Amino acid sequence: MAGNALDNVLAWRDGHIVALDQTVLPGQTKLLDITRVDELVNAITALSVRGAPLLGAAGALGVALAVRQGQREGWDETRLAAEVKRIADARPTAVNLRRETESVAARIPDGLDAVEEAALEVLRVSVDVSVRMSERGAGYLTETLGDRPLSVHTHCNTGALACLGWGSALGIVRALHERRALARVVVDETRPLLQGARLTCWELRELGIEHHLAVDGAAPFLISQGHSDAVIVGADRIAANGDTANKIGTYSLALAARRSGIPFLVAAPESTIDSATPGGDQIPVEQRDASEVTAFHGVPAAPPGTLALNPAFDITPADLITAIITEDQVIHPNGKDRL
Ligand code: MRU
Repeated sequence: MAGNALDNVLAWRDGHIVALDQTVLPGQTKLLDITRVDELVNAITALSVRGAPLLGAAGALGVALAVRQGQREGWDETRLAAEVKRIADARPTAVNLRRETESVAARIPDGLDAVEEAALEVLRVSVDVSVRMSERGAGYLTETLGDRPLSVHTHCNTGALACLGWGSALGIVRALHERRALARVVVDETRPLLQGARLTCWELRELGIEHHLAVDGAAPFLISQGHSDAVIVGADRIAANGDTANKIGTYSLALAARRSGIPFLVAAPESTIDSATPGGDQIPVEQRDASEVTAFHGVPAAPPGTLALNPAFDITPADLITAIITEDQVIHPNGKDRL
């Protein structure tokens, strides 16, 4: 059942995008049939389709969708460019969305077939990259921490749901598990939208990997108590100096890891490194609606009128990052291999 669901995380069928609606997991397995740019933008902003590499793939398919809709509705070049830009702008932090949308849009002058082929290639590459990154990360951990069952702490969802293939941080967990080098995983619930509890626990359960769910506020204490050998997270954008944007709550894990002397690893494709953004203070951080904090699934969690701050991401400074694992390399932002 879940195996089938994971086959449908994101696909291109008969000129439509088919996507698993990640807002209703794990309770429901619902597929979205996306035929218009409006529907795609809504799916991205609602987090039905989410996770940096998956957003890149969705943006790529979105260009093909826009070209098809434009042909049906007689759009001129200006309208098509505006619709493509709406896709690229749907979420600001994950650089993959803009990067892949723009790279496929560059093929528009070559026609629909070329656009579709370029978009599908983004999906194929995403799968391949995730497996290579996962194996590299597992090898790095085993080499640096020893060939023994490791316990790791992770945040948000960075598995197949976020990347296709194996995932990034969760892909490394999977690769460790396959090498029999994993003891267990601590998963932060990841407030306010519970990507850790709803999505990561679901993926780990399907993979048969032992895990414990913890509230976000427990994470630094659990790390200080020696529950984990390493912290592994994904990334939405890595600036040229190594500063890394990832799901809100990541920074506190990096501080806790440093204080406890365990490695803090970021796993991300090369395409998440944004050399055009010099440092973390130039990364745009998405601010989401206050209602995600003041209510849960429509049920109020605070008195009426309560104001809330709801940054979707935080920035972990490069000096707290032990290593960045990509499909091609291991970068030590504080060592000789500077970005
Ligand atoms: O808001 P989300 O769920 O899209 O945030 C996702 C994350 O922060 C992930 O950690 C990141 O995109 C890496 S996914 C491999």
